[in-house]
Amino acid sequence: MKNMCSNWWLSEHYSDKFVKESKKCKYRSRAWFKIDEIQKKNNIIKPGMVVLDIGSSPGGWSKYSSQKVGMSGKVIACDIDLMNPIPNVSFILGNIFEKITIKKIKKVKKKYT
Ligand SMILES: C[S@@+](CC[C@H](N)C(=O)[O-])C[C@H]1O[C@@H](n2cnc3c(N)ncnc32)[C@H](O)[C@@H]1O
Repeated sequence: MKNMCSNWWLSEHYSDKFVKESKKCKYRSRAWFKIDEIQKKNNIIKPGMVVLDIGSSPGGWSKYSSQKVGMSGKVIACDIDLMNPIPNVSFILGNIFEKITIKKIKKVKKKYT
């Protein structure tokens, strides 16, 4: 049953038009399209901001945000899974529900605010 579900998920995932498009454009994930839509509607990420990306891997939103905040801003990314490095993104490996992770995030944030 578990194999059937994961095979179904994989076939759904790879036939998804946003997954195909994100591969073509070399984005890290299809999530890029979601944040782009939010940004275009609400302009939430501005140059110079410090952005916290919780559950950041594989890094679609982090990469997008780092380009929007520019070099005067910073992205702090956190995930329980590893993430390949992105310029101007400080990655913290950890569970957001654990105190130690929050402590690490606060320590990095202090440097940029
Ligand atoms: C859908 S993915 C996020 C995709 C990402 N926003 C992007 O733009 O590429 C959700 C992520 O949340 C992470 N995650 C789930 N629970 C978490 C937790 N308690 N603490 C930190 N990360 C968590 C998962 O490891 C996974 O990488």
